[in-house]
Amino acid sequence: MSDVTRSSTTQPDWHENAFDLTRGIAAYTGSRLVAGLARVVGRHPDAAIANAFNHKQVASKLWARDRLFDTLGGRFEKVWILGGWYGVFAAMLFDDPRFDIGLVESYDLDDRVAAVASTLNADTGARFRALTGDMYDLDYRGGGPDLVVNTSCEHIADVRGWLDGLAAGTRVLLQSNDYFSEPTHINCVPSVEAFADLARLARVDFAGTLPTRKYNRFMLIGAV
Ligand SMILES: C[S@@+](CC[C@H](N)C(=O)[O-])C[C@H]1O[C@@H](n2cnc3c(N)ncnc32)[C@H](O)[C@@H]1O
Repeated sequence: MSDVTRSSTTQPDWHENAFDLTRGIAAYTGSRLVAGLARVVGRHPDAAIANAFNHKQVASKLWARDRLFDTLGGRFEKVWILGGWYGVFAAMLFDDPRFDIGLVESYDLDDRVAAVASTLNADTGARFRALTGDMYDLDYRGGGPDLVVNTSCEHIADVRGWLDGLAAGTRVLLQSNDYFSEPTHINCVPSVEAFADLARLARVDFAGTLPTRKYNRFMLIGAV
């Protein structure tokens, strides 16, 4: 048997396996979120969904979701998630029965991610919209959101300059980290205190650190 033949008959097709496995886990658990992941694997084979839904990303979003509920409750009319990537946090909010959210709009600079986020959140119908846009350019004042989430603060250069655009009193959930060695992280902070100094929120309801093996994640919940 040649190497080519051996590899084509013995190497698993991991894309097909991931699709079958996520569909099977969705059927077994009845999870709409996992069914959404299966749709993404099937329709967007090039999307880095395994990166966006790896155990560290999930842990940081579970932390955000729990502390958000403890701090601000679960009822929001309109939530904007900025740097929302593939819409994983939106899907996790919709998946949690403690939350009652009228509309989530997820904005990202990268025009390739909206289709993936829409596929992931397809079963939420008109309650989810994925849009392409730069968070610095959004109009936060005319009928704006009652919560702004940005778990990508390490990816934007001017956190305070961006916050200056929000209407006074807007509630925010922000995350950053001290993972300085990751090349796409252009604005890491060394501690949650440094993150608080950078953000200068008018009100801080929660400030905390989630340690992981390689780095620490920091979160602030409050209002501008
Ligand atoms: C790698 S992802 C998210 C990582 C993050 N820790 C998380 O899961 O929340 C960062 C996202 O921020 C987006 N982004 C960076 N600058 C942005 C901007 N000015 N406006 C909107 N999205 C932006 C990128 O396109 C990317 O999809």
